[in-house]
Amino acid sequence: MQDAVSFIKNKIGDFLPEIGIILGSGLGSLADEYCGVSVPYSEIPGFKASTVAGHKGQLVFAEICGKKVVMMQGRFHFYEGHSMETVVYPVKVMKLLGVKTLIITNAAGGVNPEFKPSDLMIITDHINFMGTNPLIGKNDENLGVRFPDMSEVYSRNLVNLANDCAKKLGIDVKHGVYMALTGPSYETPAEVRMARTLGADAVGMSTVPEAITAHYCSMNVMGISCICNKAAGVSIVGLSHAEVIEAAEMAKQKFVSLVLEVLKTIK
Ligand code: HPA
Repeated sequence: MQDAVSFIKNKIGDFLPEIGIILGSGLGSLADEYCGVSVPYSEIPGFKASTVAGHKGQLVFAEICGKKVVMMQGRFHFYEGHSMETVVYPVKVMKLLGVKTLIITNAAGGVNPEFKPSDLMIITDHINFMGTNPLIGKNDENLGVRFPDMSEVYSRNLVNLANDCAKKLGIDVKHGVYMALTGPSYETPAEVRMARTLGADAVGMSTVPEAITAHYCSMNVMGISCICNKAAGVSIVGLSHAEVIEAAEMAKQKFVSLVLEVLKTIK
């Protein structure tokens, strides 16, 4: 990890990011609009190559709205066959680079029947249904404790801040609980009924490992989901990746405006 940090510091000089953003489906283009230094994952010690089509796989460093930001353009998913260690490695590297606040975004399926495709949901809590945990293994006491408290993974202050920003922009946002499953198959209708019964508002295949790790190493965490479809069985039609991409594309403008307003407002 120290090799990765030294390698990156060599590229960015004295630009030390304070805020990290993991760009999910539909938000990736944010990094294209702000030129800064980009560092491909393939060059960074310990980073693996990203296998999902349409994900660039690089860290982009840029000053946005007066804040020094590092963006992950593409993330590592557990369903790609990566180990949990690989999935959360960039979060630990961001921590070591000095990042204090991590904004995690994703595409998700709406389990709450009130949610429509292209709604944005501020994540208030999560359910880890991946059957594993990114902190399994020897604990690094320099990063955090063995049994970290998870009472408030998503900082209440940041939930309120995101909410205020949305209000200011006139964007209607939902709030809710995100349940992570491994994927890559979408859920069955019975699994979606289970998710709802267990208290989920949205389901997806990412975010939770990164959020657990970031909170464990004392970062402030904000999570925003783009609801791309009604989860299986909530709607009568089946799901397709194309539909997810299309809804993410439709929500892109308000998603980007919200993230920019958050960057402007955040202390
Ligand atoms: N389920 C899981 N992950 C997703 C979905 C879904 O319905 N939509 C987008 N990502």
